[in-house]
Amino acid sequence: MTTINKICCIGAGYVGGPTMAVIAKKCPHINVTVVDMNQQKIDLWNGNNLDELPVFEPGLKEIVAKTRNKNLFFSTDVTTAIKDAQIIFISVNTPTKTYGAGKGMAADLKYIELCARQIADIATEEKIVVEKSTLPVKTAQTIKTILENSGNKFKFQILSNPEFLAEGTAIADLENADRVLIGGDHHTKEGFEAMNALSSIYENWIPRERIIMTNLWSSELSKLTANAFLAQRVSSINSISALCEATGADVNEVARAIGADSRIGSKFLKSSVGFGGSCFQKDILNLVYICRTLNLNEVADYWQGVIDINDYQKRRFAENIIHTLFNTVAGKKLTFLGWAFKKVTNDTRETAAMYVADYLIEETAFVHTYDPKVTETQILTDLNYIGTRSEELNKKHLKIETDPYEACRNSHAIAILTEWDEFVTYDWERIYQNMKKPAFLFDGRNLLDKDKLTKIGFVVYQIGK
Ligand code: UDX
Ligand code: UDX
Repeated sequence: MTTINKICCIGAGYVGGPTMAVIAKKCPHINVTVVDMNQQKIDLWNGNNLDELPVFEPGLKEIVAKTRNKNLFFSTDVTTAIKDAQIIFISVNTPTKTYGAGKGMAADLKYIELCARQIADIATEEKIVVEKSTLPVKTAQTIKTILENSGNKFKFQILSNPEFLAEGTAIADLENADRVLIGGDHHTKEGFEAMNALSSIYENWIPRERIIMTNLWSSELSKLTANAFLAQRVSSINSISALCEATGADVNEVARAIGADSRIGSKFLKSSVGFGGSCFQKDILNLVYICRTLNLNEVADYWQGVIDINDYQKRRFAENIIHTLFNTVAGKKLTFLGWAFKKVTNDTRETAAMYVADYLIEETAFVHTYDPKVTETQILTDLNYIGTRSEELNKKHLKIETDPYEACRNSHAIAILTEWDEFVTYDWERIYQNMKKPAFLFDGRNLLDKDKLTKIGFVVYQIGK
């Protein structure tokens, strides 16, 4: 088997960046180049200020500090990177399509195709191409067809190696992965060798028994299925939260009681204002779309239900705020603590916060938002992305604050959208004193101590209680 000592990754985003950094750390004998078409992003990856890396992940900057320009390189020179690498990872984004067939459902594969064509044109020898992006089943075949019929017509091995890291814990997830999944053409000698070559990289730190080899399609489908199952658990507990509120049960107690059954398990049972992130919704929509195109309508409906409950949960939270504030939020100042889709990340893709804000602003409320990691530009971009009203109007109704106490001053109600640890440590007495009375608090993450806040004087609503 050829020894692997040069790899590259196309896409320096949330997945490509941290994954390649960990490979560089664990494999000092491998030269790792991460390329991206976005010059500004590459400049940040190469910048002197490690606090400004484009991706915020605990432990990442320390790894970048140790490996960058030793065996980890960031560049926009895609051509050289492809030419030099023995293994090319594709980790570009695959958003939900916003046009044409499958609009709003299917994954947009235009970036993947672009990468495949680039590789076909540039490669001057055989390569192993690894899909890291989440892709619909059978995308590998598309990549293979493009690679083998355009450019220099070399024989390529295509592997699927989906990433299961969760944001905020990416480095720990990568360093101590439950499993590494490698899908490939294991019935042919070349396919098998390619799978082993990729496996040899991970074997530098992952025990061999945790490396699962499957055929290509199983690997692609496993990634979609894993995310669908995780999201399904969140929607399941969120659906029960509505029932708890209507009946006086406590969703945390229910979650604890059912999670103690080892067959169910305790993880991913935290009721919330709704799941967000770049993967869950996108991957389920993709799964639903695949099922529909295969005429598996009952299966499609089943998974669509997971998304429907998530939308319901976000809407329910916003409606509850309006209802509680005497059926009107018109002209009122409301405060959002948290905007990121979960704590310890600056990522806001599909965050519940933007949909709840949109709903309340439609009722002409003024939403003041504080998030410890998300920038003002990002927050406004998110609201504009929904496209309900003009950017000017959004700017008028959504104010971004840098001080949480100022954000809460003279506010009618506070809503917790992200479970940032620092919110627990605030001086809630002081916050209460400076708010309009009665002061309401809507805890969309069940983060705070309800009894303590009630004693201070807050009227507290928590999901599922
Ligand atoms: C990843 C996966 O790839 C996606 O399939 C999964 O569902 C979510 O996680 P992620 O790393 O989060 O995507 O995306 P992003 O942070 O947007 O990074 C992708 C990068 O690829 C961007 O920096 C973009 O500039 C780059 N890119 C995109 C290219 O360099 N070339 C292209 O042709 C397209
Ligand atoms: C997810 C998968 O966990 C990961 O394996 C995959 O590679 C990418 O998608 P990520 O989106 O980064 O990772 O975050 P995750 O921790 O899974 O949370 C997703 C969303 O669900 C967040 O909004 C989170 O707040 C929410 N969630 C999670 C809950 O509301 N309750 C829970 O019990 C768990």
